[in-house]
Amino acid sequence: MSMRCTVFASGGGSNFQALLDKRASGDLHVDFVLLAGNNSGAKAFGRARDNGINTLHIAPSHFNDEAAYAKRLGDALTEVNTELVILAGYMRKLPPSIVREYRNKIINIHPGLLPAFGGKGMYGMNVHRAVLDYGAKLSGVTVHFVDEEYDHGPVILQKAVPVLDGDDENTLAARVLEAEHDSYWRAIEALASGKIRVDGRKVVWTSQT
Ligand code: GRF
Repeated sequence: MSMRCTVFASGGGSNFQALLDKRASGDLHVDFVLLAGNNSGAKAFGRARDNGINTLHIAPSHFNDEAAYAKRLGDALTEVNTELVILAGYMRKLPPSIVREYRNKIINIHPGLLPAFGGKGMYGMNVHRAVLDYGAKLSGVTVHFVDEEYDHGPVILQKAVPVLDGDDENTLAARVLEAEHDSYWRAIEALASGKIRVDGRKVVWTSQT
């Protein structure tokens, strides 16, 4: 049985598309059972619809309080028997109750090499700008489990890319995004095929093949 995945996305969803492509090519063996997000205009919603994947438009502002929001979100995940939550450009923090309930079952992709250039406000171009301003020679991708702190949970996989002379934030972002598209599915496939074990803060790959 394929692992049942719910994807959260707020934006363009190119990472979501890369996952759909890897599934279609037979490299990634999971089922995408729901696409959720706070912005129904996001391209990711169209990608889900094109692939017959149910969508859920949900934002805290739709509810009277955080508890009601968290309850609806939790119910939605349960209704589709979610086994893995994949954050793919999701711009909101999930409620703590969801993080607790899905401990080591929520993953995120960050466009930098954590723990550098991470934390609150460090997303998208802010990351690439900070890397360039710092003069770092390497950037890259981090796939990690989600815990209660921004960009903090156990690291599953990292892939470095060079920062080249003459890079601006757009050229660096494009290079990192390409690495993201080649990284996220590998982490998910490893999780889905039981090749990853979490030992406290450490993620152990029981097999690299
Ligand atoms: C990616 O850079 C990802 O690392 C970050 O948000 C961006 C999403 O891009 N979390 P896309 O929506 O998948 O194109």
